[in-house]
Amino acid sequence: MKKEVRRAVIAGNWKMNMTPSEAKCAVERTAELTKGLDGCDVILCVPFVDIQTAVAASEGTSVMIGAQNVHFAEKGAFTGEVSAKMLLECGAKYVIIGHSERRQYFGETDETVNKRTKAALASGLKVILCLGEVLEQRQAGITSEIVSMQTKLDLAGVTADEMANVIIAYEPVWAIGTGLTATPDQAEEVCALIRETLADLYGEDVAEATTIQYGGSMNDGNAAELLSKTNVDGGLIGGASLVPEKFLKIVEAAQA
Ligand code: 13P
Repeated sequence: MKKEVRRAVIAGNWKMNMTPSEAKCAVERTAELTKGLDGCDVILCVPFVDIQTAVAASEGTSVMIGAQNVHFAEKGAFTGEVSAKMLLECGAKYVIIGHSERRQYFGETDETVNKRTKAALASGLKVILCLGEVLEQRQAGITSEIVSMQTKLDLAGVTADEMANVIIAYEPVWAIGTGLTATPDQAEEVCALIRETLADLYGEDVAEATTIQYGGSMNDGNAAELLSKTNVDGGLIGGASLVPEKFLKIVEAAQA
């Protein structure tokens, strides 16, 4: 299997933006603009409180809705957390796990990312698993070791069959929200390394079938070049996903 037959996936990560009424307008507008562009999947990962409104607004369109985190327990005394079952009942199909902002500000570790990933998959959610190096690690020349280690730790215990429901998002932390984008070659190099690591863990077939996204200041100006790379199968987009007209340009770039 080659890039041409892997499904491209363009996902927006709204982070902590958009009230439910704003979400309704943005989902409707995104769906309207991207209608008929079926060369890629389009997902919007929205704040918990927006999920039901976003799902209703996306009904009958090809836009799919995801969440930005999920707890690993089925239920219980975990104040402020949300379970996979809750997300599914609200209509979410995807969940982002392990975003660097969760790791940086909320104490998320590879161990908790792994637990959340396994729980989400077991319940039937599809996972967008985020990983990537921080600036000091890139400068120290240990990006490959870090990314390969994160891939192994975050996916520990995930089966080859379950990998059909996993997208990996390579997000170099130094490129997130900074306007600094990895060059297409830098993105390609690390996405290829992630695919090699998947081949070691699961074999070539699973590695070749897995969608690997790039994320970090992807926008309407740089998306086409990044997405032209062999191992870059899509994008996870923060800021530019908040403006449907900009997001459209990225979806268009993924049609090739
Ligand atoms: P930006 O596109 O705003 O850099 O955010 C990327 C990101 O973190 C997506 O998850």
